[in-house]
Amino acid sequence: MSIFEEVESEVRSYCRSFPVVFDTAEGSHLYTKDGKDYLDFFDGAGALNYGHNNPYLMDRAVEYIRRKGITHALDMSTTAKEAFLETFRSEILAPRGMDHKVMFCGSTGTNAVEAALKLARKATGRDTVFAFSGAFHGMSLGSLAVTSGNDSRRSLKGSLNSVVFMPFPYGFNKTFDTIAYIKNVLDDDHSGVDKPAAIILETVQAEGGVIVAEAEWLLALRALCDEYGILLICDEIQVGCGRTGTFFSFERAGIIPDMITLSKSISGAGFPMSLLLMHPSLDVFTPGEHNGTFRGNQLAFITGKAALEFAKNTNLFAEVKRKEEIVRTFLENEILPLDPRLSIRGIGLIWGIEFREIDIRLSKTAQVRCFENNLVIERAGREDSVLKLMPALTIPDADLKRGLEIVKEATIFALHSAG
Ligand SMILES: Cc1ncc(COP(=O)(O)O)c(C=O)c1O
Repeated sequence: MSIFEEVESEVRSYCRSFPVVFDTAEGSHLYTKDGKDYLDFFDGAGALNYGHNNPYLMDRAVEYIRRKGITHALDMSTTAKEAFLETFRSEILAPRGMDHKVMFCGSTGTNAVEAALKLARKATGRDTVFAFSGAFHGMSLGSLAVTSGNDSRRSLKGSLNSVVFMPFPYGFNKTFDTIAYIKNVLDDDHSGVDKPAAIILETVQAEGGVIVAEAEWLLALRALCDEYGILLICDEIQVGCGRTGTFFSFERAGIIPDMITLSKSISGAGFPMSLLLMHPSLDVFTPGEHNGTFRGNQLAFITGKAALEFAKNTNLFAEVKRKEEIVRTFLENEILPLDPRLSIRGIGLIWGIEFREIDIRLSKTAQVRCFENNLVIERAGREDSVLKLMPALTIPDADLKRGLEIVKEATIFALHSAG
């Protein structure tokens, strides 16, 4: 038995899908302690959009540590935070005409979601929140309450209150007018549902199986929120930071949410940081009302600023659009013809191959086969039936194409295994 099996809790998860011991990493490559090279199509679940150990970011982190830059300061003012905020305002907020305030939350994504829900309830005086079927927002009490998956909810089922799930336009609901349905729930004084403080959503449901909401639907949802005085919260934790080809995933619809959660790749280097952006009128927490020891990670400020510079200097988000076409073309020409029951979905550099219509177990067979061929890739969606392709935005074309070939071979292997 390894030290991991002996000492670490049963709750461990990803190490079960990828049973090797990793040691170093560079770009889109992970290396094990015995020197094996794995290509990364998982990307730290979206925390490594700029690749592993991106030198532009890491050189600045090393410089900062060497000059004894402060490493922990709660939410005190520091030069690292000052520089991050200045760059975030000039590169992200100002060009989009946004004057949202920035709140640094506890270091993981779930804490930004907790803060958003708490703030929405405080600002509106209402308790209910609408979330969507297929949503994933985190694993703590409030964020789990707006997460739909039964497996995630099981252990806290009785405590997940004040949330009503609305149908996301997918599957059975794809042709159903979900916006009209929500309106009807709000208008009907016998719907049994209170007017919510907020509606929270991912514009691309990532853990939900790469389900991309159409721009028109997002626009209609924004209009509905305006009409009824409901706050719109976009959870950009997994698909923000350039993943869809624009910094924020909602930009494709030309909407501006009232609140936005960001985490994962906001530090650019895999260092934990999360933040909540809020319209200035919603800046109603009193000092310390959402306190925490690790709010604002100083090293993450350094690499987060460098990440925004790197994205600008390398035209990274336009590159995502170019690479999107490589992936789309490959999936359409090489994967879909393998079986008419396969389907693909995606945008930017997040894509899914859905095996559900054939056999949900095939996504696992394909994932295992990919790993045997040195590709790290995750599954998502209903019953984990979707193979999720999510490489770093910086992945070189040759690696991207090689990874896609491994996925194709694994898909053929899985289809044959099904007979
Ligand atoms: C959309 C979304 N929101 C929130 C979270 C929770 O973030 P964290 O795992 O850092 O708490 C995740 C994590 O995968 C996510 O994908």
